Amino acid sequence: MKETFFLQVTPGFEKLAKQEFALKFPGLFPSIAIPEGIIEKGGITIELPMAAGFQLNYWLKIPNRILLRVSQFKCRDLPKFYNKVSKINWSPYFAGQDYEFHISSSESRLFDSRRIEKALKDGLDKCLKNQEPKKKARQRVETTKDWHLFCRFENDWCTLSVDTSGERLGKRGYKSKVGLAPLRENLAAGLYLYTLLSCPPIETLEWEKHFKEYGTPSLTLVDPFCGSGTLLLEAALFYEPNLFRNFSFEFFPLWENKSTPLKKNNRPSALNLDLPLFLVGSDIEQDRINDTEANLKEAGLQGTHHALNLGDICSKEFGQKSAREIFSNSQIVAWCMMNPPYGKRIKQPVDHFDLLETLSNWGPWQRIGVLLPQAQKLKKLPKGVKLISSLQFENGGEKVSYFLYEKELSK
Ligand SMILES: C[S@@+](CC[C@H](N)C(=O)[O-])C[C@H]1O[C@@H](n2cnc3c(N)ncnc32)[C@H](O)[C@@H]1O
Repeated sequence: MKETFFLQVTPGFEKLAKQEFALKFPGLFPSIAIPEGIIEKGGITIELPMAAGFQLNYWLKIPNRILLRVSQFKCRDLPKFYNKVSKINWSPYFAGQDYEFHISSSESRLFDSRRIEKALKDGLDKCLKNQEPKKKARQRVETTKDWHLFCRFENDWCTLSVDTSGERLGKRGYKSKVGLAPLRENLAAGLYLYTLLSCPPIETLEWEKHFKEYGTPSLTLVDPFCGSGTLLLEAALFYEPNLFRNFSFEFFPLWENKSTPLKKNNRPSALNLDLPLFLVGSDIEQDRINDTEANLKEAGLQGTHHALNLGDICSKEFGQKSAREIFSNSQIVAWCMMNPPYGKRIKQPVDHFDLLETLSNWGPWQRIGVLLPQAQKLKKLPKGVKLISSLQFENGGEKVSYFLYEKELSK
């Protein structure tokens, strides 16, 4: 039997989240035909067997949450809404825990979120009285917090969904050290996939062909503004299951006696699409270098080939030294991915053109990705640099673009 799941993502990342799903799903669930997800603003709706949907929490790195649809019905008044809610069988997910309610409404007769929430709570209470949960189920749900219930009205249709994730998925559980303006983990993962798929055209879903033609034996990934190392960590762990935290579904009454036979860094061999990585990070602050080192260790990546250096990207000596170290082997394929300060939380913004010109002179990058406010799009590019594509989204309330450049390889 199939259930309806909604992969909730940051607007702008819907297509990438669908591509991540299409990339990982066949290796994870080889016996299930890959479902065609439907992209909507802010997410993707997918029909899946329940256990498969739950387990996506371990594997998908781009979504914010994974919601399970519990019921959908047409409703235009509160008494009917209360009645409907109280008749739903909530016992597989609910045993009296305190939900945080997320109510939204558009083009519907019911729109007052406080009154909707009250009717929803009353309906759930009635259910609880009618179907007294077992003691064990109560204990299970009490062992965790972060319970979320989503109620959406659209054109008088009500959709009720329980969250299966708990804390938003960007909270990986392996990164205690945080700098001043960190990039959200799930956005960093999305930018990594965006870079990976940037050539050939991003629409292509012919994965095997892609990796045969464009996959490289190893990749040097450089972040010269590494802060606490988010981009480096997300790239290194993109194909690994996240076993550093718990997810709500693990405490659902229906999940009792079920466990997932996953071990750290244990993934199906079918999901063997990644590239061996050499991670290179630098930052102008020694504390940030220490943060990245500590985070790599916490994530179990201390054994991953990496180099972290203190350095100012604007300094000529630092640039020459870095270029020598990165490009000494002419065979390497190198990407630069970065999230420079743009003057809000960290003063002293770095000029987009100067930065691109400086970095492009380090050596023959295959890709240079820069995350900056959309308004800083360059009209003229440094010599030998081409803009391949850009991804628009909001980061901390700011409209930003991830500008992806190509550096002519024949330098
Ligand atoms: C927006 S933060 C990057 C955050 C990082 N992506 C993360 O998730 O933690 C910018 C970083 O650039 C560093 N920085 C600022 N000016 C720099 C410069 N001239 N050279 C190198 N690093 C610099 C800051 O110390 C800060 O850690």
